[in-house]
Amino acid sequence: MKNFKQIIASIIAKATNIKEQELTDYIEKPKDTKNGDYAFPCFRLAKELKKAPPVIANEIKEKIEKDIEQAKEIDKVEIAGGYLNFYINKETLVTEVLNEIAKSEEYGKSDIGNGKNIVIDYSAPNIAKPFHIGHLRSTVIGGALYKIYKILGYNVIGINHLGDYGTQFGKLIEGYKLWGNEYDIEKDPINELTKIYIRINNLCKEDENVLNACRDNFKKLENGDKYCTELWEKFRNLSLQEFKKVYDLLESKFDSWNGEAFYSDKMPEVIEILEKTGKLQESQGAKIINLEEQGIDTPCIIEKSNGSTTYATRDLAAILYRSRKYDFDKALYVTSYEQILHFKQIFEVAKLLGLKEKYIKGLEHVSFGMVLLPTGKMSTREGNVIKLQDLLNEAIQRAKEIIEQKNPNLENKEEIAKQVGIGAVIFNDLANSRVKDEIFDWDTILNFQGETGPYIQYTYVRTKSVLKKAGYIPKEKDIKPDKLVDEYSLQILKLIYDFQEILIQVTEKNEPSILSRYLIELAKAYSSFYNENRIICEDKQLQDARIYLTYAAGKVLKSGANLLGINMPNEM
Ligand code: ARG
Repeated sequence: MKNFKQIIASIIAKATNIKEQELTDYIEKPKDTKNGDYAFPCFRLAKELKKAPPVIANEIKEKIEKDIEQAKEIDKVEIAGGYLNFYINKETLVTEVLNEIAKSEEYGKSDIGNGKNIVIDYSAPNIAKPFHIGHLRSTVIGGALYKIYKILGYNVIGINHLGDYGTQFGKLIEGYKLWGNEYDIEKDPINELTKIYIRINNLCKEDENVLNACRDNFKKLENGDKYCTELWEKFRNLSLQEFKKVYDLLESKFDSWNGEAFYSDKMPEVIEILEKTGKLQESQGAKIINLEEQGIDTPCIIEKSNGSTTYATRDLAAILYRSRKYDFDKALYVTSYEQILHFKQIFEVAKLLGLKEKYIKGLEHVSFGMVLLPTGKMSTREGNVIKLQDLLNEAIQRAKEIIEQKNPNLENKEEIAKQVGIGAVIFNDLANSRVKDEIFDWDTILNFQGETGPYIQYTYVRTKSVLKKAGYIPKEKDIKPDKLVDEYSLQILKLIYDFQEILIQVTEKNEPSILSRYLIELAKAYSSFYNENRIICEDKQLQDARIYLTYAAGKVLKSGANLLGINMPNEM
């Protein structure tokens, strides 16, 4: 597609001797289209040129007027204070967008990421513990980023860094040894293992000997003891079976399931490297890295006093491993903001591992806020856990009830209820900037008229039913561009034009909500167009144009929603 911004920048570049790229970065999109489609803020050059912005605007305008006249992409340029406002040629916009829609199978696809490797560490639930709502957010945010990087041409590696290691396994093994036969862990693994865990934990608090036995089990596990390893594998497999039920509902995929345990034999190297730097200190029998000079008060514990390794050491080994194996340009970690300190620490300590600058720069914690119920915090502690599988099934159930009310004769109700229910939960997770805490309220997330997943699906279904009613999709080359230059059509076309830029912005900030907001805008723009215009009408050319625009809007809504992990029903 023609790049309007770049065309404007190159014209200004000729007149000012300032680099095109720099100018491109300065060009803005005015909120109100009265001020043009693109605007150049001349104050950006005021310092360099030592002139007032309106003076600069006048001078540039004079110099570029001829070029603007000749450029068929741009109709005119006007001065407004210190701004140059550019008005693009509407028919060129229409032609460009429709053409791109017609020729691209996957709208938005690009190769700008070619040759770059992005590692995304997400989901990462803990074995033998419930898959909770925080893991859901991680799974959904990480999954959306995965797809968006991918469509932009990056080589993406999705890693599920399972919590399958650590001292808690010593406890579980001990609990199982004592009472294994009382619990049916095959039937209901997570619940039963959680019960064992709570019970052994309580016993540990009373009995020092039991606690020591647990610690011993973990040491044995680290040393490859057969009995302990077999039990550990059993717990892991059973837990994974349950997690997969959630992944099936969400259609989550991972390229690697290397969890914490995978790094058990890779930690000695980390400790060795750290030892050589002379920064590894003894503190009450433990080995730590002091980070006070780096402005972090809490030291990073590398080895506990009993010789066991830590969550942090495993993450350091993972950084080393991933840099070698994937040569990453970015390594993203999607977890709640509760782990901000952890990642600050390990990113600091990683600087001591002798890695290339590129890897250190690529490390990024993509943190997100809590999920709150309208009544307060959704606790992940014992007793008040909301099981994710139950939550997703409830979403499907509720969606089904709504469909039952609105459209009782719909075929395929089960499948559609699944798409709507899951879509609602996913969209809610991505609707607002990720660092914000999220409120989980059933009525809000399933509201077909709100800023929700179901609203986007509903709008998409509307485009489908328009196309069905029309009975045909016209050929793109037969569309007369002048039929789509009204305010409502243009609004849709401009949004469609922006799609790829939106995807790029998502990757720049690792913020999928930029795409969610965009899809709401697009759905709203289509709704206004639909309400204001007759699509099936007397003027055949106008009808063709509007049907085609409907098709285009539907196509982009679907691509965008799919990138977020939301499936689109054809009817609802
Ligand atoms: N298992 C951890 C948790 O549930 C998340 C792991 C995130 N990834 C990492 N490399 N530390 O909190």
